[in-house]
Amino acid sequence: MDIIRTISDLRAWRKTAGRLALVPTMGNLHEGHLALVHEAKKRAERVVVSIFVNRIQFGQGEDFDSYPRTFEADRARLEQAGVDALFLPDERELYPRIRQDYNVEPPHIQNELCGAFRPGHFRGVATVVSKLFNIVQPDVACFGKKDFQQLHVIKSMVEDLNIPVEIVPVDTGRADDGLALSSRNGYLSAAERAEAPRLQRELARIRDSLIDGDNDYAGLEQAARATLEQHGWQVDYVEIRQADTLELAHAGEKRLVVLAAARQGKTRLIDNIEIHR
Ligand code: PAJ
Repeated sequence: MDIIRTISDLRAWRKTAGRLALVPTMGNLHEGHLALVHEAKKRAERVVVSIFVNRIQFGQGEDFDSYPRTFEADRARLEQAGVDALFLPDERELYPRIRQDYNVEPPHIQNELCGAFRPGHFRGVATVVSKLFNIVQPDVACFGKKDFQQLHVIKSMVEDLNIPVEIVPVDTGRADDGLALSSRNGYLSAAERAEAPRLQRELARIRDSLIDGDNDYAGLEQAARATLEQHGWQVDYVEIRQADTLELAHAGEKRLVVLAAARQGKTRLIDNIEIHR
């Protein structure tokens, strides 16, 4: 596996790579990330994974400084998974003027759902992903459905800006008890980890009710929120949305997604479940 640290080396490597898939990450890799790598390998001749903890998508008081940086373990996993190149851009090269004056500004969705609790987050994500696309010029890029709103923002960005990259969504990788794999799961205490799968179970309960024809979205959202709060969660949101647009859902809508974000102690977990009824 080639380890590439500069933009000019990456551009030179890219010229030799043929059909190329990119998997952008912030490192601390787990089986969820590796599912993206496996999908990427099916879609292209070569796979490049980027690891970059992107300061501008973290808010004040969020975990930028403490975000786990586990380079040696990540390198070994990617090598084992058969990745062709690992791109580790330097912050000073990715943000050469330090100030980032030109940004990719997502529409109103950036202030809803997770965006309501993480101002500026999706602008930071869209901006860094468009930089990575400009640098790497992949044919395909894989993103996890675990971050459903992020996937939506990237898909819409690529369409609106005519960026010639095919976006491939990949199903959420889960632990045996259903908890969505996440780098942030490592922050959980043993008791919090034992409680954590409830988030997924509450979303599955909403799914079952929706499939049974329940259209009282607000009631379902409120019941899940109350159950989580009874078990010590601080709930940011539980929302039922239209799956393709992430707009508010009308009664009887066939394609839905239920999204939630809630905290166990200091750890913020997100999850979602899609429903086609
Ligand atoms: P990160 O959290 O490292 O996630 C990198 C990619 O892995 C994202 O596409 C994310 O959706 C996917 N992923 C994470 N957990 C997953 C799981 N359990 N199952 C499937 N896919 C999973 O998301 C980011 O980094 C950043 O915002 C980034 C896109 C790299 C921009 O900085």
